[in-house]
Amino acid sequence: MARHENIVVLTGAGISAESGVATFRDAGGVWAQYDYREVATPEGFAANPALVHAFYNARRRGLGAVQPNAAHRALAALERGLGEKGGRLTLITQNVDDLHERAGSKNILHMHGELSKAECAHCGDIGAARGDLSVETACNACGRAGGMRPHVVWFGEIPRFMDEAMDAIMTADLFVSVGTSGSVYPAAGFVGEARALGVPATELNLEPSENAYLFTDSRYGPATQVVASWVREMLA
Ligand code: APR
Repeated sequence: MARHENIVVLTGAGISAESGVATFRDAGGVWAQYDYREVATPEGFAANPALVHAFYNARRRGLGAVQPNAAHRALAALERGLGEKGGRLTLITQNVDDLHERAGSKNILHMHGELSKAECAHCGDIGAARGDLSVETACNACGRAGGMRPHVVWFGEIPRFMDEAMDAIMTADLFVSVGTSGSVYPAAGFVGEARALGVPATELNLEPSENAYLFTDSRYGPATQVVASWVREMLA
């Protein structure tokens, strides 16, 4: 097993599936229950903010009922293990849940935002969403109401931390993708960037993703088993 020092891991909804958090495109997933255009686009929010707040309020409340799983904990252990050897783990997540944080990961780039936070359209403040949000919610920073939205990147909006993500990929000696269907860009393009830079890429997923052909190594199965065993190998 080659010794890897600087690893970039991209995670998607599949890493939280065994914690009981619904994925988006599996059978019965979120986009089978809701029309993403109504609840996950700026246009949808403008048209019906109450519906969008209700969608994210329900998902935010759901966070209280779920726990990190062995895959989240394994990535936190990998971050500590690499750090002790002078290496680095950069965790780029598409997920808006807080399970990586609660498992102990520190160096996290939430490229699609965070359910636990809210943004104010008046003053730009990004802060903790305390309970349900509504069009009446006043901003904790500027005090004005009527401008709060979930701190989540919607379709058509620019994902966050893209410069940091690309910097991490350019200095990585391994790129790993966990629990993502590889169907939403720019996240789905990261493996191609890594490969173009000659960085080996591993896919850890329940089943082959849409860009499975781009990976140099792949292990399939539930994240709690596949990620945990892969991390044990990395730290051996
Ligand atoms: N272990 C590992 N992988 C799993 C598991 C599991 N227990 N269960 C499901 N998966 C895999 C599925 O095989 C699928 O490839 O997780 C992936 C989930 O894919 P999606 O539901 O498309 O989720 P994701 O790839 O994270 O979606 C990307 O789309 O809707 C937007 O912003 C949203 O961040 C999301 C983005």
